[in-house]
Amino acid sequence: MEFSELIKARKTIRGYKPDPVPRALIEEIIEVAKWAPSSMNTQPWRVYVVSGEPLERIREGNTRNMLSGVPPKRDFPMREAYEGVHRQRQIDIAVQLFDAMGIARDDKARRQDWVMRGFRQFDAPVSLVLTYDKYLEPAAISQFDLGAFSHAIVLAAWERGLGCVINGQGIMQSAVVHEHAGIPDDQVIMICIAMGYPDDDFVANHVKSVREDNASFVYHVN
Ligand SMILES: Cc1cc2nc3c(=O)[nH]c(=O)nc-3n(C[C@H](O)[C@H](O)[C@H](O)COP(=O)(O)O)c2cc1C
Repeated sequence: MEFSELIKARKTIRGYKPDPVPRALIEEIIEVAKWAPSSMNTQPWRVYVVSGEPLERIREGNTRNMLSGVPPKRDFPMREAYEGVHRQRQIDIAVQLFDAMGIARDDKARRQDWVMRGFRQFDAPVSLVLTYDKYLEPAAISQFDLGAFSHAIVLAAWERGLGCVINGQGIMQSAVVHEHAGIPDDQVIMICIAMGYPDDDFVANHVKSVREDNASFVYHVN
């Protein structure tokens, strides 16, 4: 696939077939994605490839904590509430997804169910948990590097017929992920990427998010 075609065709996948992803294929994806650039070629990422029992325990732990009101706690500080145009775009994609799923605005139960699916990493068969060394904190540049790496992972996966969701919800209860994935305390959990074969019958998988016109965010300075 041409690069421009690939990057425009990729979309977030939130419904998966149960089929496992072969370890060799995951290795191949990482083999490609690691050619992402990083500051001073530090390659500050680590990848914990989690599936099977440990992933089930993470799903259970996340669900239990969220339902019992344990406040989310990531390994790094983050402003959780978006404002202005950012908040509007957040609402817009949620409306697109809820419309596709036929979830009404006032249907609290189904909205809650959708949110909890996110904390279960949409029941994907495998999750790649990306971390960096704690000593790098404050780690804006390393976080930037992990972002570049993440995009390369999801594109390399898409090229191979696999779908992904880069999933902040999955690591919001970071203590749960540390415990069940055996991630040591000297690692900062940045994000997880849930991956699997897309379930084409899952309607939200057909949602295509939108992008702003260049004119609204590009400034040519001559
Ligand atoms: C850092 C990051 C965290 C994300 N976390 C979640 C998440 O927790 N749940 C979810 O459903 N989607 C999550 N997404 C996916 C975004 O909602 C999605 O990328 C965005 O709406 C654009 O849609 P697209 O990926 O289909 O182009 C996340 C994406 C990124 C980059």
